[in-house]
Amino acid sequence: MSVVVAPSVLSADFSDLKSEFAMLNASDAPWIHLDVMDGVFVPNISFGMPVISAMRRLTSKYLDVHLMSVKPDDYILPLKKAGADGLTVHYEACLHLDRTLAQIRAEGMRAGVALNPATPVEVLLDVLHAVELVCLMSVNPGFGGQSFLERTYDKLSRLVKMRSDAKSSFFIEIDGGVNFDNAPRLRGLGADVLVAGNTVFAAPSPMEAVRKLARD
Ligand code: DX5
Ligand code: ZN
Repeated sequence: MSVVVAPSVLSADFSDLKSEFAMLNASDAPWIHLDVMDGVFVPNISFGMPVISAMRRLTSKYLDVHLMSVKPDDYILPLKKAGADGLTVHYEACLHLDRTLAQIRAEGMRAGVALNPATPVEVLLDVLHAVELVCLMSVNPGFGGQSFLERTYDKLSRLVKMRSDAKSSFFIEIDGGVNFDNAPRLRGLGADVLVAGNTVFAAPSPMEAVRKLARD
């Protein structure tokens, strides 16, 4: 069984993004995960539109943007222009999630919604028709290199059941603390996309780490 591995650039060497993207381009990873943080929704600030535009010039791979920001609607068009292929907003930051997801789709991006560890998957029951990706945060968002929260397994199983009950086909992505120990179980339970920052970029061979995370 093989899944999409999406290395998170948050753990890359920002002083040498050209080399980091050359490595990602040569790797088996079909997606690249970009964490955009505003310092309000999460207690950290990462990078925004100008840096994403620069990254866009370094790769033709799928750019999976994870927006950890208040007022996500304000950034849909700017992120599209910067080169995002998929845009995942936080459930907790959206007043009108159904409308926000429709706007993301209207811009031609894959529409995703992320849930913090404390948010139950059942809040998405009435929006499953509009969602193309659900990202389960397996750490509290804001920083790379944190430990995987074990209760994510149960949330993943419940979400997989909701997906099959709704005859839906959205991607299920797991983000935070993904490593070689938990990846096989996450794949087995039905995750489609594994985000990995530290496990890829701190590995002796990041390309080998991508391969190992993707399959048994
Ligand atoms: C956390 C970010 C993650 C993070 C993952 O807020 O959303 O994407 O970069 O990093 P690791 O895999 O190191 O936990
Ligand atoms: Zn992320």
